[in-house]
Amino acid sequence: MRFDILTLFPEMFNGPLTESIVKRAIQAGLISVELHDIRAYATDKHRTTDDAPYGGGAGMVMKAEPLSAAIREVVSSPLSVVHGEPESSTDEEQRTTDNGQQTLVVLMTPAGEPFTQRVAEELASYERLVLVCGRYEGVDERVSEALVDRELSIGDYVLTGGELAAMIVLDAVARLVPGVIDQESHAEESHGDGLLEYPHYTRPAVWEGRSVPPVLLSGHHGQVAVWRRREQLRRTLERRPDLLATAALTSDDRAFLRSLGWAVERDVDA
Ligand code: 6GU
Repeated sequence: MRFDILTLFPEMFNGPLTESIVKRAIQAGLISVELHDIRAYATDKHRTTDDAPYGGGAGMVMKAEPLSAAIREVVSSPLSVVHGEPESSTDEEQRTTDNGQQTLVVLMTPAGEPFTQRVAEELASYERLVLVCGRYEGVDERVSEALVDRELSIGDYVLTGGELAAMIVLDAVARLVPGVIDQESHAEESHGDGLLEYPHYTRPAVWEGRSVPPVLLSGHHGQVAVWRRREQLRRTLERRPDLLATAALTSDDRAFLRSLGWAVERDVDA
């Protein structure tokens, strides 16, 4: 899978791209990440990328021309299918031209729809993801209308720019690409089934006087599974009760939650 990141601050991505699992995924040729400096597409001698908002008000707005030129060039550029060294190859037969269908252009903005695990799964189905990092107070709306498929926010708080948000999207989507992490890890993780994850323990069995829950040492796989499910439910009720409304719950799950005081299943008014 190919990620193209459009930003005024490409250097911000050095950390995430040169460490850990994303780095290994790049090295293994499972994903490729290209950074594009939006300023390189500004044509005036000062390389201007922002301007004052029409109608007045605080802050600056990203200008349409450089940003649109950057998006158009990236979207129309060849999509490498070479594993291992995607960008170093110039061999014609090793490249395939993007047909538009497999590319999604995403604008990172606090005004976007919430980025969730479901959205990450949808994005992972594209061959190419173009992540546009907004700066200043926003981008000229016409660019979004003309060239952006989807606007995403990573949460209800304001960052100074879309760069950190794009890194989060990159990380969350990259780990869904087959081969990047063990596939078993996906099944039981937080949000995978709409519930938070159960707590984990490893050796030693007693640490600073704190014991691992005995059921985990019992060897009873059925009891372990019941305990883990209940811990998932307990945690989700405590920390994210909003998730219970859409989680897939069995009648046993509901009975257990009610024993903990869950009372979300209120009577409908009409
Ligand atoms: Cl995508 N951008 C900015 N600037 N702030 C945010 C955000 C994005 N998501 C949450 N806050």
